[in-house]
Amino acid sequence: MRDLDNSSDLAAMRVDYGGLPHGGNDDLDLDETWLAGGWEPLLRHWIEQATAVGIAEPNAMVLATVSLADGTPRPVARTVLCKGLSPEGVIFYTNYDSAKGAQLTALPYAAVTFVWPALGRQVHLRGAVERVPAETTAAYWRSRPRDSQLGAWASRQSQPIASRAELDRTLAETTARFADADEIPVPPHWGGFLVRPDEVEFWQGRRGRLHNRIRMRIEGATTTVERLQP
Ligand SMILES: Cc1cc2nc3c(=O)[nH]c(=O)nc-3n(C[C@H](O)[C@H](O)[C@H](O)COP(=O)(O)O)c2cc1C
Repeated sequence: MRDLDNSSDLAAMRVDYGGLPHGGNDDLDLDETWLAGGWEPLLRHWIEQATAVGIAEPNAMVLATVSLADGTPRPVARTVLCKGLSPEGVIFYTNYDSAKGAQLTALPYAAVTFVWPALGRQVHLRGAVERVPAETTAAYWRSRPRDSQLGAWASRQSQPIASRAELDRTLAETTARFADADEIPVPPHWGGFLVRPDEVEFWQGRRGRLHNRIRMRIEGATTTVERLQP
């Protein structure tokens, strides 16, 4: 295969995990016992550690959905922010009419991946997806800055628009519309999704590519924890 980019040596870029800065890899080897309390405390701990070492957007996760639009299933991935974490699952907020919203309505199943390369860590979750209750969305909505609330009303997320100027005009109209409103209501097309994992995998980078991978599978009240080959 032809080199994609001869100007930088992508093929030579290589990090050997284990003993990286930030102390993230200086702790002991990840093993099955780390999941004794369930997947949620460990994921929470890893997000907290990523926050503590100053990683930007430590709660960012890549969300993969399936598009059935043209009759052929196709994967689609993009980044969202995890805004809720509990033993039930992870929550993110978005436009229900966006591409991802439509995909999750048609096929309510997703995969999410958190990755913190500076810590040599990654977590995958896979599972069924449902909309969160309206009260949960409303509580989070109230915590958002007014600008973000106006943006959620102004943008028909994932739809084409002719220009930046048109987007700015729509925002100006939306701002005028809510000028007298102390509190901006939740748009009907906006809210949270909960991904309820039936599988969670924790990955910790190790020297020589012999990484640690521990997977938990969840079936009702039954959980199975096993190590996977790297
Ligand atoms: C760091 C980061 C965080 C993001 N967080 C969100 C989010 O929480 N919700 C959201 O709808 N889009 C978020 N986005 C934008 C999405 O990646 C995406 O562009 C948008 O949701 C439209 O996706 P879709 O057309 O596949 O529905 C984020 C992007 C980045 C880079």
